[in-house]
Amino acid sequence: MKIIMLGAPGAGKGTQAKMIADKYGIPHVSTGDIFRANIKNGTPLGTEAKQYMDKGLLVPDELTVKILLDRVAQEDCKNGYVLDGFPRTIPQAEVLDKALAELGDKIDYAIDVDVPDENIVRRMGGRRACLSCGATYHIEHVPPKKEGICDVCGQPLVLRDDDRPETVQNRLNVYHEQTQPLIDFYQKKGVLKTVDGTKDMKDVFADIEAVLKA
Ligand code: AP5
Ligand code: MG
Repeated sequence: MKIIMLGAPGAGKGTQAKMIADKYGIPHVSTGDIFRANIKNGTPLGTEAKQYMDKGLLVPDELTVKILLDRVAQEDCKNGYVLDGFPRTIPQAEVLDKALAELGDKIDYAIDVDVPDENIVRRMGGRRACLSCGATYHIEHVPPKKEGICDVCGQPLVLRDDDRPETVQNRLNVYHEQTQPLIDFYQKKGVLKTVDGTKDMKDVFADIEAVLKA
């Protein structure tokens, strides 16, 4: 099963993608997590990606596409995967389609987690992220067991550099201009499913499960 998560920054793509990955036993592939791991490890890719991410801009397609195609070519992705944060532009979606078509394959579902901009800005300030394992928390909705420490790997939690309010607004603008057109793109391919992302996380997941069973 090959699934794409669509939705604005902070809509809950990562939260839901992890739940899908756990339930269906497929890898959760997040380009944002891959970039953040590279930033943390001080790699040349991380240094380049950070210049864009801190401004709320997209990392250039050439760089992003290569990383994603390398990742999904790995052994653990052979039975499917859930992509979170990729594709984010029409050219990225076209490259992915072409790469899959060459293998006689295609995307099964593009799930749009729909949340209005007003809700997003409120969510982001409360998010805390683990840069080691990619786990995500929220100080009100999903607090870690011990304040400031990741439940999964014990590393310190941080407010992401791009979760400052002024950057969040930029990310939303970039989303509307460059990523939202993908909703139409996947609608035309007949694989788009929209879920209401303003509900409680468990209810959003129940709606996604219903879509995947249908
Ligand atoms: P990326 O890491 O993908 O960030 P994003 O799309 O901006 O999305 P977020 O991770 O911020 O939000 P999310 O939808 O995963 O929400 P989450 O589940 O955490 O990308 C970061 C940057 O990397 C980009 O800006 C770009 O520069 C670059 N990049 C990445 N991919 C790229 C690509 N393909 N091309 C070019 N550049 C790329 O939830 C948010 C918060 O809300 C959490 O605290 C969570 O606990 C809480 N929450 C979740 N669901 C609910 C709910 N139902 N109710 C209440 N709270 C909830
Ligand atoms: Mg995310």
